[in-house]
Amino acid sequence: MDNSKELLIQYTNEVEQVITGYLPDEEGQSKSLTAAMNYSMKAGGKRLRPLFMREVYRMLGGRGREVEPFMAAIEMIHTFSLVHDDLPCIDNDRLRRGRDTTWVKFGYDMAVLAGDGLYGYAFETAAKALAFTKDARAVGRCMGILAEKSGIYGMIGGETTDVELTGKPMTKEQLDFVYRLKTGALLEASMMIGAILAGADEKQVKTVERIASCVGKAFQIQDDILDVTSSQEVLGKPVLSDEKNHKTTYVTLYGMEDARKAVDSLSREAVEGLEGLPGEHGFLRALIMMLVNREK
Ligand code: IPE
Ligand code: IPE
Ligand code: MG
Ligand code: MG
Ligand code: MG
Repeated sequence: MDNSKELLIQYTNEVEQVITGYLPDEEGQSKSLTAAMNYSMKAGGKRLRPLFMREVYRMLGGRGREVEPFMAAIEMIHTFSLVHDDLPCIDNDRLRRGRDTTWVKFGYDMAVLAGDGLYGYAFETAAKALAFTKDARAVGRCMGILAEKSGIYGMIGGETTDVELTGKPMTKEQLDFVYRLKTGALLEASMMIGAILAGADEKQVKTVERIASCVGKAFQIQDDILDVTSSQEVLGKPVLSDEKNHKTTYVTLYGMEDARKAVDSLSREAVEGLEGLPGEHGFLRALIMMLVNREK
């Protein structure tokens, strides 16, 4: 029997508990900052990046707890990216995860600072993995990957090109570049960190990076599709945000039908990649294929 939907609910709840355990206290001089940081962290979200991290870790034989601080850290970085992405100077959106965006709730100043706070606290949190491991080198390498895939050559770099080319014509190559960085890179970091902490060899880490890159691209294309086809109630964020901002997306460049085909074929490619890895793939395979038809 296929129980992957039930497992997804159970695993997401477990991931949620891990994340909650690493949120900063809302007390003392900085409490308005930590309250703004926790507001967006506690708003829910699908928690896909920590979920992928933990499942790759388990698939490749990881059984310890050193993955947990990294699970919280990647979700903090992802949430920071959303808090800043929603700002009036970027996508100018007012709803996120079913709530007012951080800037609507706390003001522009606090939203910028909450994003900065989350980015720094992510590394403070990830470093806590040292308490759970004998392999400090692996933890150090994973912190480097977290920095690289979120920074200049990763998510922030991708957002930068996305912003710079807003309202301008974009080639397919430029769009690929933006998707690989703004969305793909954090998924790559998630899965690579899971693999490295589980003790994977270099070839396996490369395979995992390729799988994650396909998942990331498919994920962003599906996000573009939902921006056109879904509703604010289902998504918990505004629809037609890309049109409002005159964005070139996979849907505007290739059309809806080809966009859907691309999500499907990239997801299949990712699933095929799993065959090159040891361990039990069942849940990861199901998760990747569930994302093809996701509604939010
Ligand atoms: C939204 O990410 C931003 C993109 C990279 C497309 P998610 O769809 O994972 O957002 P949450 O975490 O579930 O809110
Ligand atoms: C954002 O892409 C990706 C990030 C790095 C935040 P979008 O701008 O399409 O994400 P949504 O639709 O606002 O979640
Ligand atoms: Mg954006
Ligand atoms: Mg946006
Ligand atoms: Mg979008």
